[in-house]
Amino acid sequence: MTRCVGTTGSWAWLAAALAVLSACGGDDAGAAAGGGVQAAVSYYRDVKPIFDARCAGCHSDGGVAPFSLEGHETAASWAAPIKRAVVERTMPPWPADNRCAEYVGDRSLSEQQIQTIAAWVDGGAAVGDPADEGPPIDPPASAALARVDRTLEMPVEYTPQTGPDEYRCFVIDWPEDAVRYVTGFGIRPGEQRVVHHVIAFIAAPDQLAELDALDAADPGPGYPCYGGPGLKPRWLGGWVPGGGSMIFPQGAGTRIEPGSRLIMQVHYNTLTAGKLPDRTAIDVTLESSVEREGTMQPWANPAWLTGDSMLIPALESDVVHRWGADPSRALAGSEPIEIHWVGLHMHTLGTRARLEIERAGGGSECVLDIPRWDFHWQGNYKLAEPKVLEPGDKLSIECHWDNTPEKQPIIDGQPRVPGDVVWGEGTTDEMCLGTFYMTGR
Ligand code: HEC
Repeated sequence: MTRCVGTTGSWAWLAAALAVLSACGGDDAGAAAGGGVQAAVSYYRDVKPIFDARCAGCHSDGGVAPFSLEGHETAASWAAPIKRAVVERTMPPWPADNRCAEYVGDRSLSEQQIQTIAAWVDGGAAVGDPADEGPPIDPPASAALARVDRTLEMPVEYTPQTGPDEYRCFVIDWPEDAVRYVTGFGIRPGEQRVVHHVIAFIAAPDQLAELDALDAADPGPGYPCYGGPGLKPRWLGGWVPGGGSMIFPQGAGTRIEPGSRLIMQVHYNTLTAGKLPDRTAIDVTLESSVEREGTMQPWANPAWLTGDSMLIPALESDVVHRWGADPSRALAGSEPIEIHWVGLHMHTLGTRARLEIERAGGGSECVLDIPRWDFHWQGNYKLAEPKVLEPGDKLSIECHWDNTPEKQPIIDGQPRVPGDVVWGEGTTDEMCLGTFYMTGR
């Protein structure tokens, strides 16, 4: 049993100061459990508010994560893995480096929150007194669409066939009969326990024959699509669990022609919940006209897509490819552009990636940096302040890969034998692709 620092004599001032640290002044229930300062950290007072705000969005019954963090009992039984995951910052999933730029909805833990959880685990995961429950912490901003004009569902239910990961593209009719602009985009996962991420693309009317051929070539609803949807459709938006909706900046929207179709790429992960049926839907907010057209711009060196110009030689542990260009040329005219949302995409050999502005006048500015690439957590990040690029500024993308035996994907139960890798959409290919939502100024 810990004894509080003596509170008499000339050390009273110090005792009072230390009481804040050791919680001697407060309820001492936790201290009896393990002894020392750490034992004073209790579930109800210190840890539950963090779990509620930063974990329970996914770690709840029926959520995407494999166990619930909504009660003391399961949380305590997972104590050791929880400490490891938060100290190593693999949980909550937030692969972006916050020193690069500020993003809306940042769900990473502060250093102090990590220390609180670690101290709780070290002190024996004490429960404490429910009456002492600490004040709630604001959950990360997770935007919900203010208005849903259309909900577009997968045409039929689908049960993933291959495990643990399956990537499948579903084709959805676009019901509008005039030009519309999407100003907000959200995903309603049908079966939360298996839907791991979703990307929606827009197939233009002149791409439908190609799309029909892909769809028809595979039995069952939709078709397999690991690295992309096969044709070169425009991007509409993406979603990962806990990520909320994409609300495009004021006055901006993505144009969709009547007669288009949406392609919804769903990544199913069936490792924990099994092969459960799913019917996921897309929600959109629509306008008939907007002040400025926005577009989700894919960003990669066009040369990488053919031949071996993005060669990742077998057995090399740090292969780098980098390229930059002026994105204002992708919009008609030579006006400044704004970048609002950013994302990066590689496959499983990827180790880190970065998007950066190279100013025409010299200097550079980080836009998105993923220092430890995780193929399973490919989010879109909303910049707290849009980045403005003047004509002549370049946006560069840099990707790193490890093509040694340890990094190889498991294919049919076996790690792949390292071979030279180039750009492609298959499991044994790689990509180095940025995406960003851009508008004129
Ligand atoms: C955005 C969803 C999400 C949030 C938020 C989240 N998790 Fe997870 N967590 C998952 C998923 C999904 C898995 C299963 C493994 C995987 O897919 O990465 C997982 C696995 C884990 C595991 C077991 C695997 C490991 O890494 O050891 C631990 C422990 C864990 N989470 C702890 C936490 C804690 C603690 C928090 C909050 C501080 C948290 N998670 C927040 C989705 C989430």
